[in-house]
Amino acid sequence: MSNFIDSGSMMRSVRLQSSDSVPVWLMRQAGRYMQEYRDVRSKVTFLELCKTPPLAAEVMLTAVKKLGVDAAIIFSDILLILEPMGFGIHFPDSGGPRVTRPICQQADVKNVIELESANQLDYVMDTVRYTREGLDKQIPLIGFAGAPFTLATYVIDAAGENNANKPNSNNRNFNRVKSFMHLYPNEWDELMRKFAISTAKYLNGQINAGVQIIQIFDSWAGCLSVDDYINFVQPYSRLLIDLIQKGIPIIHFAPGNPILLPEIAKTNCNVIGVDWRIPIDKAWEIIGKNHAIQGNLDPAILLTDRETIRKMTQKIIRLTERKNGFIFNLGHGVLPQTPIENVIALVDAVHEFGQK
Ligand code: CP3
Repeated sequence: MSNFIDSGSMMRSVRLQSSDSVPVWLMRQAGRYMQEYRDVRSKVTFLELCKTPPLAAEVMLTAVKKLGVDAAIIFSDILLILEPMGFGIHFPDSGGPRVTRPICQQADVKNVIELESANQLDYVMDTVRYTREGLDKQIPLIGFAGAPFTLATYVIDAAGENNANKPNSNNRNFNRVKSFMHLYPNEWDELMRKFAISTAKYLNGQINAGVQIIQIFDSWAGCLSVDDYINFVQPYSRLLIDLIQKGIPIIHFAPGNPILLPEIAKTNCNVIGVDWRIPIDKAWEIIGKNHAIQGNLDPAILLTDRETIRKMTQKIIRLTERKNGFIFNLGHGVLPQTPIENVIALVDAVHEFGQK
């Protein structure tokens, strides 16, 4: 099977090899913007969907076929690992996810349970198997997890605020997690190690179940100063990456703050995901030619029209066309209000302009 996968444009690009076209996939390519997804969600909750592997696989396979993208990502969520680690998770219809039994004080960290085995998330392993089975051989399957810091923002930021905070909002200020790391460096270290070690086991389980690529989401790291990132976050992202089986390409996505890019590049990842805040050629200069790059169209562009989408897509491709190792994506997930025909127009435009 692996030979077929190795020859596809996505696998070649994450390995910095030449490819005859620019590969494209989109974060949240299976989501609420899609009618088929909304139909499934009218019958089951988000958590039930994640815990029903044949259905989770079907949701992603439907999106991949409908869009014609070059990679699939498992249908799952970064917060699921928190359950076997002792937290409660809830996905209300609006306002973003909620974590119960959060960390309210430094003493709570010792109660966080390290994951013993990826089998504690056996339904995710089954989703990997079902999705891989349904995919064409040249389309790699991406497994994923949240980075230790981003997981910490959900378990600490929730402290005491319960329904008052908005974990999905860009207006989150992250005050609690930031003060925790400075005030209690020992407990912070313990928590971040538990997350790094547990997440490595989880990702290695996904690899054994059949994913070809890993993406690590450090979705909220952009809120940090460079100094805090280096002291309190980078060592644990590096630990996580070092514990992942060798030979599997790792995409590291930490949007929001391009000034962190040189530090992200030091975490031993292979591909760096960037958002629209920095031109992609500048970002590539910063991270260096030993890294592949993924990005970086602003998802808001998908709310415009076909002509604008094609123009903006071509611009990005022109900035990258002299190098191997470019993967087209958005700078963040597809917005729920996006018309599907615009998403299809984007994928078609990448395939047209990215032909070599
Ligand atoms: O299509 C895909 O990209 C695969 C599936 C996927 C989901 N979540 C499904 C999902 C992936 C890769 C994620 C990762 C994830 N989850 C991240 C990192 C990416 C990012 O956005 O930065 C984060 C921060 C989360 C946590 C999370 N889960 C949030 C903030 C939300 C609310 C999002 C919203 O729009 O309300 C979720 C729920 C979630 N995860 C949905 C989906 C499709 C929406 C659930 C629904 O209402 O049906």
